[in-house]
Amino acid sequence: MTELRSKHLLGIRGLTRAELELIIDTAVEFKGVINRPIRKVPTLRDVTVANLFFEDSTRTRLSFELAEKRLSADVVNFSAASSSVSKGETLVDTVHNILAMKVDLVVMRHPHPGAAHFLASRVDVPIVNAGDGTHEHPTQALLDALSLKEQFGQLDGLKVTIVGDIRHSRVALSNILCLQKLGADVMVCGPSTLIPKHYASMGVHVEHDIDKALAWCDVANVLRIQLERQGGGDHIPFFPSLREYHAQYGVTKERLACAESGGKKITIMHPGPMNRGVEIASDVADGERSVILNQVENGVAVRMAVIYLLASGLGG
Ligand code: CP
Repeated sequence: MTELRSKHLLGIRGLTRAELELIIDTAVEFKGVINRPIRKVPTLRDVTVANLFFEDSTRTRLSFELAEKRLSADVVNFSAASSSVSKGETLVDTVHNILAMKVDLVVMRHPHPGAAHFLASRVDVPIVNAGDGTHEHPTQALLDALSLKEQFGQLDGLKVTIVGDIRHSRVALSNILCLQKLGADVMVCGPSTLIPKHYASMGVHVEHDIDKALAWCDVANVLRIQLERQGGGDHIPFFPSLREYHAQYGVTKERLACAESGGKKITIMHPGPMNRGVEIASDVADGERSVILNQVENGVAVRMAVIYLLASGLGG
Protein backbone atom coordinates (compact mmCIF):
# COMPACT_ATOMS: atom_id res chain seq x y z
CA MET A 1 0.00 0.00 0.00
CA THR A 2 1.38 3.43 -0.97
CA GLU A 3 -1.55 5.76 -0.30
CA LEU A 4 -4.46 6.32 2.09
CA ARG A 5 -7.98 5.53 0.86
CA SER A 6 -9.59 8.65 2.35
CA LYS A 7 -8.65 12.25 1.53
CA HIS A 8 -9.10 13.08 5.26
CA LEU A 9 -7.65 11.82 8.54
CA LEU A 10 -10.64 12.03 10.86
CA GLY A 11 -9.98 9.16 13.24
CA ILE A 12 -8.29 5.80 13.72
CA ARG A 13 -11.67 4.07 13.37
CA GLY A 14 -11.68 4.51 9.58
CA LEU A 15 -8.14 3.21 9.00
CA THR A 16 -7.01 -0.34 8.20
CA ARG A 17 -3.94 -1.97 9.73
CA ALA A 18 -2.16 -1.52 6.38
CA GLU A 19 -2.92 2.23 6.44
CA LEU A 20 -1.67 2.55 10.03
CA GLU A 21 1.53 0.74 9.03
CA LEU A 22 1.92 2.98 5.96
CA ILE A 23 1.72 6.13 8.13
CA ILE A 24 4.12 4.70 10.75
CA ASP A 25 6.63 3.48 8.13
CA THR A 26 6.49 6.88 6.39
CA ALA A 27 7.05 8.57 9.78
CA VAL A 28 10.16 6.40 10.32
CA GLU A 29 11.54 7.76 7.01
CA PHE A 30 10.77 11.33 8.04
CA LYS A 31 12.36 10.80 11.45
CA GLY A 32 15.58 10.11 9.54
CA VAL A 33 15.09 13.39 7.68
CA ILE A 34 14.54 15.57 10.77
CA ASN A 35 17.63 14.12 12.44
CA ARG A 36 19.87 15.13 9.52
CA PRO A 37 21.88 18.39 9.60
CA ILE A 38 19.48 19.76 6.92
CA ARG A 39 16.06 18.94 8.34
CA LYS A 40 13.90 20.28 5.54
CA VAL A 41 12.66 18.66 2.32
CA PRO A 42 11.09 20.59 -0.60
CA THR A 43 8.20 18.08 -0.98
CA LEU A 44 5.25 20.44 -0.26
CA ARG A 45 6.70 23.68 -1.62
CA ASP A 46 3.48 24.80 -3.33
CA VAL A 47 1.06 23.57 -0.65
CA THR A 48 -0.58 25.86 1.94
CA VAL A 49 -1.80 24.40 5.24
CA ALA A 50 -4.04 26.13 7.80
CA ASN A 51 -3.81 25.03 11.44
CA LEU A 52 -7.13 25.90 13.09
CA PHE A 53 -7.09 25.57 16.86
CA PHE A 54 -10.43 26.18 18.59
CA GLU A 55 -9.02 24.68 21.80
CA ASP A 56 -5.68 25.07 23.61
CA SER A 57 -2.68 22.97 22.61
CA THR A 58 1.10 22.97 23.01
CA ARG A 59 2.46 19.70 21.56
CA THR A 60 -0.05 19.10 18.75
CA ARG A 61 -0.12 22.69 17.45
CA LEU A 62 3.65 23.16 17.48
CA SER A 63 4.45 19.75 16.02
CA PHE A 64 1.95 20.16 13.16
CA GLU A 65 3.47 23.55 12.38
CA LEU A 66 7.01 22.17 12.53
CA ALA A 67 6.02 19.15 10.42
CA GLU A 68 4.52 21.39 7.74
CA LYS A 69 7.57 23.68 7.73
CA ARG A 70 9.97 20.71 7.53
CA LEU A 71 8.02 19.70 4.38
CA SER A 72 8.40 23.28 3.01
CA ALA A 73 4.64 23.97 3.04
CA ASP A 74 3.34 27.51 3.57
CA VAL A 75 1.62 27.64 6.97
CA VAL A 76 -1.08 29.86 8.47
CA ASN A 77 -2.12 29.51 12.10
CA PHE A 78 -5.53 30.37 13.49
CA SER A 79 -6.41 30.52 17.16
CA ALA A 80 -10.11 30.88 17.99
CA ALA A 81 -9.41 33.05 21.04
CA SER A 82 -7.96 35.86 18.89
CA SER A 83 -10.33 35.49 15.90
CA SER A 84 -13.75 36.64 14.71
CA VAL A 85 -15.25 33.48 16.28
CA SER A 86 -15.54 35.69 19.40
CA LYS A 87 -17.84 37.95 17.30
CA GLY A 88 -20.20 35.05 16.49
CA GLU A 89 -18.78 33.71 13.20
CA THR A 90 -19.67 30.04 12.65
CA LEU A 91 -17.16 27.21 12.12
CA VAL A 92 -18.20 26.70 8.48
CA ASP A 93 -18.11 30.45 7.68
CA THR A 94 -14.70 30.76 9.34
CA VAL A 95 -13.28 27.86 7.34
CA HIS A 96 -14.84 28.98 4.03
CA ASN A 97 -13.21 32.40 4.52
CA ILE A 98 -9.83 30.78 5.20
CA LEU A 99 -10.22 28.51 2.16
CA ALA A 100 -11.06 31.54 -0.03
CA MET A 101 -7.43 32.55 0.57
CA LYS A 102 -6.39 29.40 -1.37
CA VAL A 103 -5.57 27.01 1.48
CA ASP A 104 -5.00 23.38 0.37
CA LEU A 105 -5.32 21.41 3.62
CA VAL A 106 -6.78 22.07 7.08
CA VAL A 107 -5.62 20.75 10.46
CA MET A 108 -8.26 21.34 13.12
CA ARG A 109 -8.60 20.91 16.87
CA HIS A 110 -12.07 21.59 18.22
CA PRO A 111 -13.77 21.05 21.61
CA HIS A 112 -16.83 19.35 20.06
CA PRO A 113 -16.81 15.62 19.24
CA GLY A 114 -17.52 15.15 15.53
CA ALA A 115 -16.39 18.66 14.51
CA ALA A 116 -13.77 17.31 12.06
CA HIS A 117 -16.34 14.96 10.44
CA PHE A 118 -18.82 17.85 10.20
CA LEU A 119 -16.25 20.06 8.48
CA ALA A 120 -15.11 17.28 6.13
CA SER A 121 -18.69 16.93 4.89
CA ARG A 122 -18.91 20.65 4.06
CA VAL A 123 -15.58 21.63 2.49
CA ASP A 124 -13.53 20.24 -0.41
CA VAL A 125 -10.02 20.17 1.09
CA PRO A 126 -8.47 17.38 3.21
CA ILE A 127 -9.19 17.75 6.94
CA VAL A 128 -6.86 16.39 9.63
CA ASN A 129 -8.43 15.88 13.04
CA ALA A 130 -6.01 17.24 15.65
CA GLY A 131 -8.40 16.27 18.48
CA ASP A 132 -12.20 16.66 18.58
CA GLY A 133 -13.50 16.99 22.12
CA THR A 134 -13.66 13.65 23.94
CA HIS A 135 -13.86 11.70 20.66
CA GLU A 136 -10.60 10.99 18.77
CA HIS A 137 -6.98 12.20 18.55
CA PRO A 138 -5.64 10.04 15.72
CA THR A 139 -2.16 11.53 15.34
CA GLN A 140 -1.55 11.04 19.09
CA ALA A 141 -2.37 7.32 18.75
CA LEU A 142 -0.08 7.05 15.72
CA LEU A 143 2.85 8.71 17.47
CA ASP A 144 2.26 6.49 20.48
CA ALA A 145 2.30 3.43 18.20
CA LEU A 146 5.56 4.61 16.58
CA SER A 147 7.09 5.10 20.06
CA LEU A 148 6.10 1.54 21.02
CA LYS A 149 7.38 0.13 17.73
CA GLU A 150 10.75 1.76 18.43
CA GLN A 151 10.79 0.28 21.92
CA PHE A 152 9.51 -3.23 21.19
CA GLY A 153 9.96 -3.78 17.42
CA GLN A 154 6.29 -4.71 16.95
CA LEU A 155 2.99 -4.34 18.79
CA ASP A 156 1.57 -7.84 18.25
CA GLY A 157 0.91 -9.39 21.67
CA LEU A 158 2.08 -6.31 23.60
CA LYS A 159 0.09 -5.68 26.79
CA VAL A 160 -0.82 -1.99 27.16
CA THR A 161 -2.82 -0.56 30.03
CA ILE A 162 -4.33 2.89 29.68
CA VAL A 163 -4.70 4.38 33.17
CA GLY A 164 -6.74 7.37 34.26
CA ASP A 165 -9.55 9.56 33.02
CA ILE A 166 -10.81 7.35 30.19
CA ARG A 167 -14.24 9.02 30.21
CA HIS A 168 -13.02 12.46 29.11
CA SER A 169 -10.15 11.28 26.91
CA ARG A 170 -9.91 11.33 23.11
CA VAL A 171 -6.46 9.73 23.43
CA ALA A 172 -8.00 6.63 25.04
CA LEU A 173 -10.39 5.84 22.20
CA SER A 174 -7.84 6.48 19.42
CA ASN A 175 -5.19 4.47 21.27
CA ILE A 176 -7.49 1.51 21.89
CA LEU A 177 -8.52 1.36 18.21
CA CYS A 178 -4.93 1.78 16.99
CA LEU A 179 -3.36 -0.70 19.42
CA GLN A 180 -6.00 -3.35 18.71
CA LYS A 181 -5.61 -2.99 14.93
CA LEU A 182 -1.84 -3.42 15.38
CA GLY A 183 -2.30 -6.58 17.44
CA ALA A 184 -1.78 -5.35 21.03
CA ASP A 185 -3.83 -6.49 24.03
CA VAL A 186 -5.39 -3.44 25.77
CA MET A 187 -6.60 -2.81 29.32
CA VAL A 188 -8.24 0.32 30.71
CA CYS A 189 -7.79 1.11 34.39
CA GLY A 190 -9.36 3.74 36.63
CA PRO A 191 -12.26 4.31 38.99
CA SER A 192 -15.58 3.03 37.62
CA THR A 193 -16.82 6.63 37.41
CA LEU A 194 -14.11 7.40 34.84
CA ILE A 195 -14.60 4.30 32.63
CA PRO A 196 -17.84 4.37 30.60
CA LYS A 197 -19.60 0.99 30.52
CA HIS A 198 -19.43 0.65 26.72
CA TYR A 199 -15.63 0.22 26.86
CA ALA A 200 -16.15 -3.36 28.06
CA SER A 201 -17.79 -4.17 24.70
CA MET A 202 -14.73 -2.91 22.78
CA GLY A 203 -12.73 -6.02 23.61
CA VAL A 204 -10.54 -4.32 26.22
CA HIS A 205 -9.90 -5.61 29.72
CA VAL A 206 -11.41 -3.36 32.41
CA GLU A 207 -9.55 -3.20 35.73
CA HIS A 208 -10.21 -0.95 38.71
CA ASP A 209 -7.13 -1.98 40.72
CA ILE A 210 -4.03 -0.12 39.55
CA ASP A 211 -1.66 -2.65 41.14
CA LYS A 212 -3.26 -5.52 39.21
CA ALA A 213 -3.16 -3.43 36.00
CA LEU A 214 0.55 -2.70 36.43
CA ALA A 215 1.28 -6.36 37.27
CA TRP A 216 -0.41 -7.33 33.94
CA CYS A 217 1.10 -4.84 31.49
CA ASP A 218 4.29 -4.22 29.51
CA VAL A 219 3.33 -0.57 28.97
CA ALA A 220 1.38 1.92 31.09
CA ASN A 221 -0.03 4.88 29.16
CA VAL A 222 -1.02 7.33 31.89
CA LEU A 223 -3.77 9.83 31.09
CA ARG A 224 -4.39 13.23 32.61
CA ILE A 225 -7.30 13.93 34.91
CA GLN A 226 -9.22 16.41 32.74
CA LEU A 227 -10.67 18.73 35.35
CA GLU A 228 -11.72 21.24 32.68
CA ARG A 229 -14.15 18.63 31.26
CA GLN A 230 -15.52 17.72 34.70
CA GLY A 231 -17.71 20.75 35.21
CA GLY A 232 -15.06 23.13 36.60
CA GLY A 233 -15.23 24.70 40.05
CA ASP A 234 -14.01 23.17 43.30
CA HIS A 235 -16.32 20.15 43.24
CA ILE A 236 -14.97 17.11 41.36
CA PRO A 237 -17.94 14.82 40.59
CA PHE A 238 -16.00 11.64 39.73
CA PHE A 239 -13.75 11.04 42.80
CA PRO A 240 -13.40 12.56 46.27
CA SER A 241 -10.27 14.71 45.75
CA LEU A 242 -7.05 14.91 43.74
CA ARG A 243 -5.15 13.62 46.80
CA GLU A 244 -7.44 10.63 47.02
CA TYR A 245 -7.09 9.99 43.27
CA HIS A 246 -3.30 10.03 43.56
CA ALA A 247 -3.43 7.64 46.52
CA GLN A 248 -5.69 5.19 44.64
CA TYR A 249 -4.49 5.52 41.04
CA GLY A 250 -1.30 7.59 40.90
CA VAL A 251 1.55 5.82 39.08
CA THR A 252 4.38 6.04 41.59
CA LYS A 253 7.88 4.61 41.89
CA GLU A 254 6.73 2.37 44.75
CA ARG A 255 3.86 0.92 42.70
CA LEU A 256 6.16 0.30 39.74
CA ALA A 257 8.78 -1.38 41.95
CA CYS A 258 6.11 -3.72 43.28
CA ALA A 259 4.79 -4.56 39.77
CA GLU A 260 8.34 -5.08 38.49
CA SER A 261 9.46 -7.29 41.39
CA GLY A 262 9.33 -10.34 39.08
CA GLY A 263 11.96 -8.78 36.81
CA LYS A 264 9.88 -7.16 34.03
CA LYS A 265 10.26 -3.50 33.07
CA ILE A 266 7.18 -1.33 32.42
CA THR A 267 7.45 1.37 29.75
CA ILE A 268 5.78 4.61 30.87
CA MET A 269 3.91 6.86 28.44
CA HIS A 270 1.86 10.04 28.88
CA PRO A 271 0.40 12.14 26.05
CA GLY A 272 0.74 15.36 28.06
CA PRO A 273 0.04 17.79 29.49
CA MET A 274 0.90 16.05 32.78
CA ASN A 275 -0.51 16.76 36.21
CA ARG A 276 2.59 15.82 38.18
CA GLY A 277 1.73 14.45 41.60
CA VAL A 278 -1.83 13.54 40.50
CA GLU A 279 -1.92 10.78 37.85
CA ILE A 280 1.87 10.40 37.71
CA ALA A 281 4.70 11.02 40.16
CA SER A 282 7.52 13.26 38.94
CA ASP A 283 10.22 10.61 39.46
CA VAL A 284 8.23 8.22 37.22
CA ALA A 285 7.58 10.87 34.54
CA ASP A 286 11.29 11.72 34.46
CA GLY A 287 12.55 8.19 35.19
CA GLU A 288 14.45 5.72 33.02
CA ARG A 289 11.29 3.86 31.98
CA SER A 290 9.63 7.00 30.62
CA VAL A 291 9.38 7.54 26.84
CA ILE A 292 7.31 10.70 27.24
CA LEU A 293 9.74 12.98 25.39
CA ASN A 294 10.26 10.31 22.68
CA GLN A 295 6.49 10.56 22.12
CA VAL A 296 6.80 14.32 21.64
CA GLU A 297 9.74 13.89 19.23
CA ASN A 298 7.79 11.31 17.23
CA GLY A 299 4.85 13.71 16.95
CA VAL A 300 6.70 15.77 14.34
CA ALA A 301 7.60 12.73 12.20
CA VAL A 302 4.09 11.26 12.38
CA ARG A 303 2.48 14.58 11.45
CA MET A 304 4.92 14.98 8.54
CA ALA A 305 3.84 11.53 7.35
CA VAL A 306 0.12 12.33 7.62
CA ILE A 307 0.40 15.71 5.86
CA TYR A 308 2.65 14.23 3.16
CA LEU A 309 0.32 11.28 2.45
CA LEU A 310 -2.83 13.46 2.34
CA ALA A 311 -1.14 16.17 0.25
CA SER A 312 -0.03 13.59 -2.30
CA GLY A 313 -3.74 13.21 -3.16
CA LEU A 314 -4.15 16.92 -3.97
CA GLY A 315 -4.86 17.72 -7.60
CA GLY A 316 -1.90 19.23 -9.55
N1 CP B 1 -1.05 15.43 23.66
C1 CP B 1 -1.66 16.57 23.29
O1 CP B 1 -2.60 16.60 22.50
O2 CP B 1 -1.13 17.69 23.87
P1 CP B 1 -1.60 19.18 23.54
O3 CP B 1 -2.99 19.35 24.08
O4 CP B 1 -0.59 20.09 24.22
O5 CP B 1 -1.59 19.35 22.05
